[in-house]
Amino acid sequence: MSLLSMFKGKGPSGFGYGSTAEEVTEGLDLTGRTILLTGCNSGIGKETLRVLSKRGAHVIAAARTVEKAQAACGEVGGETTAVACELSDPASVKACAAEVAGLGRRLDAIICNAGIMALPKLQQKHGYELQFFTNHIGHFILVTSLLQSLTDNGRVVVVSSGAHKGAPPEGIQFDNLSGERGYTPFGAYGQSKLANILFANELAKRFEGTGKTANSLHPGVIHTNLGRSMPAIARSAMAVAVPVVLKSVPQGAATQCYVAVHPRVEGVTGKYFADCNESHTTRHGRDEAMAAKLWEASEKIAAEVTA
Ligand SMILES: NC(=O)c1ccc[n+]([C@@H]2O[C@H](COP(=O)([O-])OP(=O)(O)OC[C@H]3O[C@@H](n4cnc5c(N)ncnc54)[C@H](OP(=O)(O)O)[C@@H]3O)[C@@H](O)[C@H]2O)c1
Repeated sequence: MSLLSMFKGKGPSGFGYGSTAEEVTEGLDLTGRTILLTGCNSGIGKETLRVLSKRGAHVIAAARTVEKAQAACGEVGGETTAVACELSDPASVKACAAEVAGLGRRLDAIICNAGIMALPKLQQKHGYELQFFTNHIGHFILVTSLLQSLTDNGRVVVVSSGAHKGAPPEGIQFDNLSGERGYTPFGAYGQSKLANILFANELAKRFEGTGKTANSLHPGVIHTNLGRSMPAIARSAMAVAVPVVLKSVPQGAATQCYVAVHPRVEGVTGKYFADCNESHTTRHGRDEAMAAKLWEASEKIAAEVTA
């Protein structure tokens, strides 16, 4: 437990910064529930897989390759199905969606957890900046391909980040989704994480009148493999910070487990969570026009790259 965990209190949910995924799901019987999770083989995704399956959920666990997903599933005791989903490859994402739909199980939740951060140099897929394409467009294609599979009160949970605050000053740079008109590693990461929030908000709007919900969240700052692209000096600083200010992996997985399955979140939609409680985004994260514009742009991109 980090020093910070000892000083941070709990919020209205009864949980807080120091809560773990096991604690927020304590006493819940998820038998009969099916949950699709991306990024199941590492970091907070792996802990989410472990805890949700421990509580009885059938987790459809996605990783870049089926071998990675199978290895992760092999480490947990519960009921799981391993699937491949390379988010930067639209054909793989569509194949994953088809495979999941083909299982014939309704989805109680989809947790969009996988992500990459701060690639030092501009990288692209299909002409789009790779963090935006992986973190947002990959999940946009996956979720919108599986809307029919969601249960009537199914929950879409999009793992964003407090780093959405580092998005460009104007928010989503619709005229620079390629990154070619300017690129910074954390600016592009921030933009992709802002896109995660706006996607959840617009989806929540489109779910109005149904029991389905969509929310986004910041999991906290956790020492995982996410920092692999960061310079060595920054990674060393992270390692030093672990016992002082960073969350543990079980703490980092708590908010997404809470939002995905806790009864208190039933019917709650269009919100942003942090430390297992509702929280606040930047003004861009509440911008409905930007969310609508992003949806439209994402639909166009999805159509173009899956044609
Ligand atoms: N750690 C933090 O401090 C922090 C803070 C705020 C938000 N987050 C968010 O939390 C989420 C989980 O991150 P983490 O910290 O657990 O990092 P992690 O340990 O690096 O795990 C990321 C997961 O995403 C997968 N992934 C990456 N690129 C992918 C792709 N193209 N297709 C499919 N899967 C892909 C990784 O697979 P491989 O192992 O095969 O690469 C891995 O399973 C991310 O969305 C991240 O933005 C983390």
